[in-house]
Amino acid sequence: MIELPKDKSIAQRCAVLNLDFDESFIGEDIKNTLQAANQFAEYNKDLTLNLGNSGTGIRLLTGYIAGSGKKCTLIGDKSLSNRPMRRISDPLNTWGAKISLRENKYPPIEIAESKLQSNFIYELEIPSAQIKSCLLLAALSSKTKIEIIEKIPSRDHTERLLQECDAMIFREGNKIIFDGTKEITKKFIDVPKDFSSAAYLIAANILTDKDIPLIGIGVNKTRTAFLDVLVEMGAKIELRNGCVISNEQRADITASLNKNLKGISISGKKIPNLIDEIPLIAIMAMFAEGKTTIRDAKELRYKESDRISLLLDNMKKFNPNIGLAEFEDGFEIIPSKNLNNDSVDLETGGDHRIIMSFVIAALVTGKKINFDETESVETSFPGFFEVIKAWYQ
Ligand code: S3P
Repeated sequence: MIELPKDKSIAQRCAVLNLDFDESFIGEDIKNTLQAANQFAEYNKDLTLNLGNSGTGIRLLTGYIAGSGKKCTLIGDKSLSNRPMRRISDPLNTWGAKISLRENKYPPIEIAESKLQSNFIYELEIPSAQIKSCLLLAALSSKTKIEIIEKIPSRDHTERLLQECDAMIFREGNKIIFDGTKEITKKFIDVPKDFSSAAYLIAANILTDKDIPLIGIGVNKTRTAFLDVLVEMGAKIELRNGCVISNEQRADITASLNKNLKGISISGKKIPNLIDEIPLIAIMAMFAEGKTTIRDAKELRYKESDRISLLLDNMKKFNPNIGLAEFEDGFEIIPSKNLNNDSVDLETGGDHRIIMSFVIAALVTGKKINFDETESVETSFPGFFEVIKAWYQ
C-alpha cells in the first residue's frame, strides 16, 4: 500500500488551533507551523517566528496572533518573503490590528499590540481560504464576532474544524457567521491523507496505465474538483469506503485511463477548488488530444513561485514543439508530439508542485530531467521520489 502524507491544510489549522493530531508523516510546512504555533503558545509574545516556506502557516498564524492582541514578528524563507501579505494585513488593520509589512507588501510581518473591534463584517475580494481562515482565527483569539461574505467558495477546512470543536459557526448562503466569544472544545483530530499529494499519483496511474489504489484520502468537496476535471478529460475515477471522521470526508481513490485523454477548458468558480492541481492539469494536457485552456487563475502567480510563467517556460523546454499562449490569468496548451528524448534542465523556483508535476511528465516519456533542486518537495510530500521509484518506474 502507498503511504501518503497528512493533509497539509488541515494539519496546519490544527497546529494553529493547538489541537492534537498524529504528527507522524508530515511535510516541512506542517513542521514549521507546528513549531511556530507551539512557541507562541508557550512564550506568548515578543517572538520572531519563522514559518519557512509555508504561506498557509504565516497567514493563519498572523490572524491568530493579531487577534490575541500580542506583539510578534513573523518571517519566512526567500520564497515566502516575496509573497503578498496585504491581503491579510489590510482587513486585519481595518478591524483594529496594528500590522506592518516590508515595503508595505511582504514579510517580515510585524504585529504590534492592539485590540480588534467587535462585529467585523468583511467581503472577500480574493477567493482565498487562507484569507478567510486568517480572519476566522483572529475572531477566535480576540473573542469577537465576524461575518465573512464569500462569493466564490474556497476550501472549508477551518469552518469544519471549528464546527468539530463545538464553535458557534454557521453558513447562511454566501455568508459565514462565526461567534468567537464561545471557547472551543479541544479535541484529537484524525487528519486524512493529503488530496493534493495524492493527485500526483492519481495522474501517474492514469498516464502510466496503472490502477494502484490510494487509501484514506481527504475528499472534501471543496478540494476535489481535480477529479471532475479528470473524468471530463476521459479518466475513470472510483471512490470506495467513503466515511466522515473528524468532520472531514475521506475515501479510497482508484484512477485509471478510460479512453484517450482530451483537452479541457477550466475557468470561474471551479478554479479555487483545484488551484493547487493546475500545474498537474497542465502536464496532463501535454499528453491529451486537443487544446486545454485555463483562465481566472491569476492567483497562480502568487504561489510558491509564479506558477504560470514557470510552468510555461519549463513546458517549452520539455517539449519545444508544444503550442503555448500565456495570459495574465492563465494559459493555453496545444499538445504536440516530441520525438526528441534528450535530457533537459528545468528551473524549479524552489516550488514543490512544479518539481512533482514534471516528475510525472517524465514518467510518460522517459525523458531525463535535471532539476536545479529537489529538496522543496519535502515541504508537502516527504518520500515522493521513493514512492515514484517503487511503484511507477
Ligand atoms: C490553502 C489555500 C490555498 C492553497 C494553498 C493552501 C489553505 O491558497 O493554494 O496551497 O490551506 O488554506 P489561497 O488561500 O491563497 O488560495
